[in-house]
Amino acid sequence: MISEVRPTECYVYITLPGKTEAVTAGRYALTTDAHGTAIGRFVYGRSYLERVDSVPIDPIELKLAKRTYQTTTMKGVFGALRDAGPDYWGRRLIERHVGKPEIGEMDYLLYAPDDRAGALGFGLGKTPPAPRRKFNQTLDLEKLQTIADAIVKDEELPPNAAAEQIEELMLIGTSMGGARPKAIIENKDGLWLAKFNRPDDKWNNARVEHAMLVLARNCGLSTAQSKIIQVAGRDVLLVNRFDREKTTRGYLRSRMASALTLLRTEDSHRSRDKWSYVLLAEELRRVCAEPGKDAAELFRRMCFNALISNIDDHPRNHAIVAKDRDWKLSPAYDLTPTNPISLEHRDLALICGDSGRYANAENLVSQSMRFLIERDHAYAIIAEMENQVVSTWYEVSRGEGVSEQDCKQIAGAFAYPGFRLEDQNRRST
Ligand SMILES: Nc1ncnc2c1ncn2[C@@H]1O[C@H](COP(=O)(O)OP(=O)(O)O)[C@@H](O)[C@H]1O
Ligand SMILES: [Mg+2]
Repeated sequence: MISEVRPTECYVYITLPGKTEAVTAGRYALTTDAHGTAIGRFVYGRSYLERVDSVPIDPIELKLAKRTYQTTTMKGVFGALRDAGPDYWGRRLIERHVGKPEIGEMDYLLYAPDDRAGALGFGLGKTPPAPRRKFNQTLDLEKLQTIADAIVKDEELPPNAAAEQIEELMLIGTSMGGARPKAIIENKDGLWLAKFNRPDDKWNNARVEHAMLVLARNCGLSTAQSKIIQVAGRDVLLVNRFDREKTTRGYLRSRMASALTLLRTEDSHRSRDKWSYVLLAEELRRVCAEPGKDAAELFRRMCFNALISNIDDHPRNHAIVAKDRDWKLSPAYDLTPTNPISLEHRDLALICGDSGRYANAENLVSQSMRFLIERDHAYAIIAEMENQVVSTWYEVSRGEGVSEQDCKQIAGAFAYPGFRLEDQNRRST
């Protein structure tokens, strides 16, 4: 259970490139000043800095240096640490586990189990614990689905949830981000993010999300690998973890940073002026080893999201990863179509061009040079992708098992009329 005195300091561990065991990278302290402002401080350990193979724990803010980093933004939590912490779903589980009141940002980091995204870990011991060897297996999914259902309904846990199961509950993916019910499982190929359907979903989310990943791949995007499995008669989406690689020695881990961190911004709506594909492309150009490739891939993702009305494309749904020293854009994940009422104007979550967030072809092209793409080429990319989406979304969806009924529900998501609206206006003038 939670200790009486809340820890204000912890160690930050990292699994270095090519390694399967963590080392201590530094120390993180979180305090509050006399005005109630949270202050986070991070220092790299001396022995970590002396290693020849040390890497920075994030690509922009916390460079390898002998100094104390300090932040008062984001409740004192550095972006890299926040990305390694739980989000809505995981926080909810931890709150249930610990007892709701008085949970601090540090507790969320320390309570989340070590299947978190990226290569970092947290603990109170100067030496990192041994890496986890035991993960939930595919066979456990039925139990995990039941637990997830109970949490979604905010019910008591199932009657057979004895003490040890509560511990297991803490292992069902609490440290991964996102709001949907999910768990981490292992099979012979490695680690997977299992995403469960919710009773209040408008359509079979698992199937539709899987179909969108396939459609995106067909449009030339790099995407996370996914598949659907049946658990107690229900569909569950399995997405292969691109930040883990199974080896005979254990798991290799990639560092990971969200677009929220790259854009130095927050989840809150007050920070939304910094939520921008255009700014993100520029950050990728600064940080990634192959700027031209990643900026172009981001452009394609932005266009794809506009073409499937994925308005949930917020900065936590974009990330960069580093398997070795170099950073690159991660495969695309969490692609979900929506079907808003408006046929003329739909906004993505991030700014796309001169007309803000407007999911519209002219707007997408307006800043293409900042993605290192010539205008004509940008038009061609969009036209080709639009054609692919319009002519194949139905066939792909049905092929991946989306029902006829669900296809009707999502039909309005694809290449909605507003996507070409200004084109039409221009032609008529
Ligand atoms: N294939 C993957 N490999 C590694 N991390 C992933 C993968 N897919 C998602 N993530 C991480 O897990 C988080 C939650 O996943 P996501 O699919 O976005 O769930 P939700 O639908 O709940 O938002 C993401 O924000 C990202 O950090
Ligand atoms: Mg998400």
